[in-house]
Amino acid sequence: MLKIAPSILAADFLHLKRELDLVNEYADLLHVDVMDGTFVPNISFGFPLVEAMAKVVTVPMDVHLMIVNPDKYVERFARAGASLISFHLEAALQAGKDPSEIIAMIKDCGCKAGLVINPDVPVESLFPYLEEADFFLIMSVFAGFGGQKFIEESLKRISTLRREMESRGIDKDIEVDGGVSAENSRALIDAGATMLVAGSSVFKAENPAEAIAQLRV
Ligand code: DX5
Ligand code: ZN
Repeated sequence: MLKIAPSILAADFLHLKRELDLVNEYADLLHVDVMDGTFVPNISFGFPLVEAMAKVVTVPMDVHLMIVNPDKYVERFARAGASLISFHLEAALQAGKDPSEIIAMIKDCGCKAGLVINPDVPVESLFPYLEEADFFLIMSVFAGFGGQKFIEESLKRISTLRREMESRGIDKDIEVDGGVSAENSRALIDAGATMLVAGSSVFKAENPAEAIAQLRV
């Protein structure tokens, strides 16, 4: 089943409750971008906001960690209310950490574990983890900022990953994040994506509920 995950990064923070009510009513997940100013050149938010949102969010929270030491913070994000936690393969490898151990750590916390790659990381790097991780996130922009232009090449990467899964009899979610809109959602679904993250195209739309509905077609 297709899941739409609006990215709260693009929301109106002065009306956060209203934005969350919209996600609860029309979407399937809430995507939460955690940035540390080191793994990516931008800083977003952390535990206090996730904890506060957990009090009103009824859909699962999908926490996307763009931080240098994901293993250090997995448990706290799980406690703060995350149901899905994803981390960058690059971040784990740069820190000399075994991605399999971080995947296991996320699962031990009772969350679904996602592995993320930026657009310059070969999609084949995910193949060794197809059995272990619960879902895979293909960045269709370089992680760090909302509102960037979708990189078309991502479609091919998604279909390569979907084909590899099929050849091994694996059926797991493929999430796509960055520049996703009604203009490319059909192509993304056809390529094999099952979770669409959308920031600007939802929250900057005149009618966000309609924007979510348009992503489903
Ligand atoms: C980028 C974030 C995205 C971002 C998507 O680093 O991971 O989740 O919020 O925003 P849009 O949909 O505006 O590209
Ligand atoms: Zn994200």
